[in-house]
Amino acid sequence: MTDKELYLEAVRARKRAYAPYSGFLVGAALLTDQGKVYSGGNIENAAYSPSNCAERTAFFKAISEGERRFLAIAIAGGPADSEALDFCPPCGVCRQVMQEFCCGEEFRIIMGNREGVLRTLRLQDLLPLGFGAEQLRQSAEVHGKDGGEAE
Ligand code: THU
Repeated sequence: MTDKELYLEAVRARKRAYAPYSGFLVGAALLTDQGKVYSGGNIENAAYSPSNCAERTAFFKAISEGERRFLAIAIAGGPADSEALDFCPPCGVCRQVMQEFCCGEEFRIIMGNREGVLRTLRLQDLLPLGFGAEQLRQSAEVHGKDGGEAE
């Protein structure tokens, strides 16, 4: 699967997004290390806070199917009344979700614009010094596994 094909999957997923409140539709397509693609759109809610971003929809679909290893995610976002998409970087919460599964240098975040230009970023650049499992492991070493005070 090429980056362009993955991005087109994100564009397709964007058409199924549910965003009546913001009017901003986002699609994401997540590629596993086995070449499978999980796509998703943003899903909004009248109560606002239960809304979910496209990237997390794709991640949670994949994780709940047992997937754990990913190579790339493509993102396509823009106003509902326009096909003229611009680069849509993932929000901070989605970056944190990526950090959980995609800490490796190889994981790529692909965005596209209306001219069909693709831009690729690494999570390390979007979320430097991110909080992850490593911090909890270090904490467990210092405080003991029960989370109590150090001796
Ligand atoms: N949104 C995404 O789906 N992904 C992002 O990374 C940025 C924002 C959604 C959330 C909300 O439904 C709409 O775009 C406007 O913020």
